[in-house]
Amino acid sequence: MKYTFVTLFSNLVEGYFQDSILKRAIDKDILDINYLNPRDYSQNKHMKVDDTAVGGGAGMVMNPQPLFDALDSLKKDDKNVHVIFLTPVAKTFKQNDAKRLAKKEHIAFVSGRYEGIDERVIEKYADEVFSIGDYILTGGELASLVVCDAVSRNIKGVLGNSDSLSVESFETPLLEAPSFSKPNNFKEIAVPSEYLKGNHSKIRSLKLELSECKTKFFRPEQLLKHRTRTSYEK
Ligand code: ADE
Repeated sequence: MKYTFVTLFSNLVEGYFQDSILKRAIDKDILDINYLNPRDYSQNKHMKVDDTAVGGGAGMVMNPQPLFDALDSLKKDDKNVHVIFLTPVAKTFKQNDAKRLAKKEHIAFVSGRYEGIDERVIEKYADEVFSIGDYILTGGELASLVVCDAVSRNIKGVLGNSDSLSVESFETPLLEAPSFSKPNNFKEIAVPSEYLKGNHSKIRSLKLELSECKTKFFRPEQLLKHRTRTSYEK
């Protein structure tokens, strides 16, 4: 998978790939990370990339010209690049999107700064637009990394054998059951004894019960979805 981060601040993004799972994937040539700075395309004599909002309103908006030119050059190099804009004005990114996008060959993440991006850029170039949640960040870079990370772990070879994809929260409507590592007894706090007895069907049913408890507490609407689905399957 090739990723291109279209951002004024590549420094904010670069660090994330310098360690752990995604670094390993880059070293194995599964991921290829690139950066494109709209400022490099600015035709303004001071290389400005933003201006006050037409019609008034607080803050600065990113101008169309540097982004049009940067994205034209990106699309000239690869007409099949899938262009994603990160903005709070969009549908929320979900696990299903991560799985679907993992099949693409080249994704570009366009991050806005200031009060946002001139709408004409989004209208012309966006294949998709995502928010990562109902809060406002100072820019799209963190959001683009969230989407990139969630997509990447669904690409074959990115996770090692030990980091399994199979039974995870959001693969089903239920949240994942709690996990424990050794020792079985730590500072006199024991793991649930059922986990230790080796009866896999009992462990499975305890885990299901614990999953339901967690889901009922944290995400009650998801529990309803689970119950509707399992009663439909019966
Ligand atoms: N930019 C600012 N806030 C954002 C959010 N919640 N999701 C995606 N991009 C953003």
